[in-house]
Amino acid sequence: LGTLALVALGGYLLGSIPFGVVITRAAGAGDVRNIGSGNIGATNVLRTGRKDLALATLLLDAGKGAAALLIARHLFDSETAGAIAGGAAFLGHLFPVWLKFKGGKGVATFYGLLLAAAWPLGLMAGAVWLLAAFLFRYSSLAALISAATAPLLALLPLAVVGLPVGLPILALTVFAAVLIWVRHHQNIARLLKGEEPRIGAKKA
Ligand code: G3P
Repeated sequence: LGTLALVALGGYLLGSIPFGVVITRAAGAGDVRNIGSGNIGATNVLRTGRKDLALATLLLDAGKGAAALLIARHLFDSETAGAIAGGAAFLGHLFPVWLKFKGGKGVATFYGLLLAAAWPLGLMAGAVWLLAAFLFRYSSLAALISAATAPLLALLPLAVVGLPVGLPILALTVFAAVLIWVRHHQNIARLLKGEEPRIGAKKA
């Protein structure tokens, strides 16, 4: 139990690094929490007008989730340890101690986790996001559709490509997908009212 608690703490601390805030500040682009939706994620960093900073936020927020899972899985040679560290990193992104527990919505970190856990699953979930974003032009809606379908994709017979998704990863996928929906409640309300800004819109 002591080991698992350490794995969770390590994952949490890694996931709690708010790259969107760190990067926009370091680049002199202001505090991302004061613009657009106020969220710390790549979508909102894009609203600063800096595509490079948004891309860096996306990659680093995804990377921290992937790193937490990969490091723990490797250290303990255990899928469960990887899933626990990954889940903790996801919670770290949503509730970072450094930002008084007011963190992000978890979408980029989710893709990092899925790619690290079982790359075909990560690629398929990412493809769903891209397709939905292309069709509807809402980042939030694309994330909601992708999160809702990811557990179904995880249940697909990935054994075909030699990577069956075990129970720990399936549980992690469902856990993160549910939290993504919960964290998007304001986006859902805006989407229903037709007030959600589309990708590339000037103002949120
Ligand atoms: O990744 C979060 C995205 O789905 C929505 O971001 O800033 O539009 O609330 P935002």
